[in-house]
Amino acid sequence: MSSERPTTTPRTASYEADPEQVHRVLLLYSGGLDTSVMLKWIQDEYDAEVVCLTVNLGQPGEDYEVIRDKAMRLGALDCLVVDAREEFAREYLVPAIKANALYGGGYPLFTALGRPLIAKLAVEHARAAACDTIAHGCTGKGNDQVRIEATVATLGPELKVIAPVRTWRMGREEEIAYAREHGIPIKTFSGQSGSETAPYSIDDNLWGRSSEGRWIEDLEHAPEDDVFQLVSRPEDAPAEPEQIELTFERGVPVALDGARLELVELIERTAAIGARHGVGIIDHIEDRIVGLKVRDIYEAPAAAIILPAHQELERLVCTIHQNQFKGQLDRQWAFLVYAGLWWEPLRGDLDAYMDRVNEQVSGTIGMKLYKGHARVITRSSANAVYDASLASFAESGGLFSQSAAPGFIELWSLQSRMAWRLRNE
Ligand code: ARG
Repeated sequence: MSSERPTTTPRTASYEADPEQVHRVLLLYSGGLDTSVMLKWIQDEYDAEVVCLTVNLGQPGEDYEVIRDKAMRLGALDCLVVDAREEFAREYLVPAIKANALYGGGYPLFTALGRPLIAKLAVEHARAAACDTIAHGCTGKGNDQVRIEATVATLGPELKVIAPVRTWRMGREEEIAYAREHGIPIKTFSGQSGSETAPYSIDDNLWGRSSEGRWIEDLEHAPEDDVFQLVSRPEDAPAEPEQIELTFERGVPVALDGARLELVELIERTAAIGARHGVGIIDHIEDRIVGLKVRDIYEAPAAAIILPAHQELERLVCTIHQNQFKGQLDRQWAFLVYAGLWWEPLRGDLDAYMDRVNEQVSGTIGMKLYKGHARVITRSSANAVYDASLASFAESGGLFSQSAAPGFIELWSLQSRMAWRLRNE
């Protein structure tokens, strides 16, 4: 391989596009300010055609007709809207449930799970529409650029990437000015003062919603009520608790209160019940993979019910050894996915383990929801490694011999006792 390169070549990673390589772009389009400005800006700056792709992962309150119309009016060659909720639930949320996936002890990873799917769809549709480049709206400070570009570089190595927000050096005010100048409709957002403030930075899907920016960046600032757009404030939640039952088969939730439901519907209904009761608010300090420590406010009502229910059932059907071990793998799984390495073979290796353990995770968990809390109250499973008569305080026999306990204690503690004596005498 030659080490010579022309002096004019910009120093970019091999997957990042040089302007002369860009002819037709697949833009991941949300209809918001950044991606709308981008849609115009790419046509002007790169003299390229733009095909938009909007992915429905179950984010509430979107009107996809409006988004499509906006894209077409801004000069898109086409705007494809893909309903990927089913695939998201089956191929991304189910593995997350089986792995009890929480990053940093609290974040149920909804964004991190969505990005590899969005980027995979971008690769597929870029190829189908003969695009040479994929554009996305991530900034240079977040995790999402890593997740999207790692996916494109893995699945579509022939495709180039551009991330205009990372390079165009426009602030929000300049973007708004650009939008006005180019006839891009903008939604203005009024803060509490009535004057125009920057909105929260939001991302959401079936599994939860995140807010960043504004006062959230001030760690001493307690959450303001207007951030909660999905979950009721616990103070406003019903004064009556509600009990629900979730049934799992091989680790997958299949029924709510005894009624079998398709996965997407089950998650949506569970989210609605949780949201009503103020369940799933997470005020989270997070270590990003790009080095920053940040604060996020999450609303994840479905995850806040389904994950603890799953974990409880898993604990019931697994042995002490499996339970001691799996948490370590769960944490590794969550970190890989958070860190944008969805396609890393270790994730598949871990999934094989998760699937194997979850073969036993069938049964029903009852939960009580009340003013911001979801608490497990009942459990039942044919696979429970549990025998009420053995666990009972009443005199027992059979598999458990109480007279064997003193001998067990003597041997179990032997090394610890010897070491204690050596170090303390
Ligand atoms: N902190 C979360 C994560 O890294 C949420 C990111 C939300 N993304 C966004 N573009 N607003 O997964």
